[in-house]
Amino acid sequence: MTIDFHHMSHLKNDLLLKVLRGDAIERPPVWMMRQAGRYLPEYMALREKYSFFERCQTPELACEITIQPIDIVGVDAAILFSDILVVPQAMGLEVQLVESKGPILPEPIRTQDDFNRISVPDVNDKLQYVFNAIRLIKKELNGRVPLIGFAGAPWTILCYMVQGKGSKTFDEAKAFCYTHPEMAHALLQMITDTTIAYCKEQVAAGADVVQIFDSWGGLLGPDDFKNISLRYIRQIVHGVRDEVPVIIFAKGAWHSLKQMGETGANGLGIDWCIEPQMARKLAGHGIALQGNFDPAKLMSPIPVIRKEVRQMLEDFGGQAHIANLGHGILPNTPVDHAKAFVEAVKEYENVKLKM
Ligand code: CP3
Repeated sequence: MTIDFHHMSHLKNDLLLKVLRGDAIERPPVWMMRQAGRYLPEYMALREKYSFFERCQTPELACEITIQPIDIVGVDAAILFSDILVVPQAMGLEVQLVESKGPILPEPIRTQDDFNRISVPDVNDKLQYVFNAIRLIKKELNGRVPLIGFAGAPWTILCYMVQGKGSKTFDEAKAFCYTHPEMAHALLQMITDTTIAYCKEQVAAGADVVQIFDSWGGLLGPDDFKNISLRYIRQIVHGVRDEVPVIIFAKGAWHSLKQMGETGANGLGIDWCIEPQMARKLAGHGIALQGNFDPAKLMSPIPVIRKEVRQMLEDFGGQAHIANLGHGILPNTPVDHAKAFVEAVKEYENVKLKM
């Protein structure tokens, strides 16, 4: 691969960009999905004072929260503090974040009338606060580590827009796709168009990498995943991959790793329900794999975490790997355990030399 991504040169730690570009690396870069969040007391202190969307919409707060895990846990990349649900919000749906209930969308999309109420917004108007936050974060990071921007995959966004809340099955969202296929695809296309513009502006503001979160991709069978989810993810990848590397994380959708790689993405996230060796067989070579430590296992004693992290790194074979969890870090994770996870990856080179 010979792509030269434009932000690369300014970074002191460019391990993540190197591995996504296909370069050899001294050791895998490490970051954790949902690394800015409730397991950090410093985050909880800000959560006492400001509501969730105040934290997202105030660039100074979003910036402070984004940088907390860089300073406290020592990860090799920052990820913008925001949420995937700012996209449906910008499209005209109300989104609330209710304590201990998660996201609530009081007027979900179920009928043509509901559908008619939403539109593809001007992202520079509705999501300007995100781009302002990115500019501030880049300034404060001062090249220490790259900044990951992100968006939800259209299918995962549709899940919330139709179901109106979190769910284990997203049965209403699936029913909508199977009873109103034309409206569902029109909605997926509107989300896609919004998301492409949104990701491009994140990059213009300074995001070095974009990750697409398809948290509910695994709820669809292989054919439906390709038709309802991957088709739209592909458009997003094509929209941004000439500017920055793209990572697709479609939880549970390991059956389509090969096809995800064929979109032109630079990295693929995997969860803990597939062996790294099997994921590599399915994805082929020439693409980075990201993952896949079970976040619940961060509850293990520190010596166990260190041993299991080393095993994970061996299983990935050291190369073309971004060390991460297989899903977001859990709120009850002790900070010391998160640090042990990160340190065990950083020491890997030394460990290998001693073997
Ligand atoms: O990774 C990071 O640190 C960056 C910030 C980030 C958040 N949400 C902040 C957040 C990212 C990348 C997300 C993505 C997101 N949001 C996803 C995809 C990733 C995944 O975990 O599957 C999804 C499905 C959402 C939707 C969402 N937002 C849910 C279901 C919830 C409530 C449950 C939960 O995990 O807290 C949120 C709220 C949310 N988004 C919080 C944070 C830090 C918790 C807010 C709080 O209570 O303080």
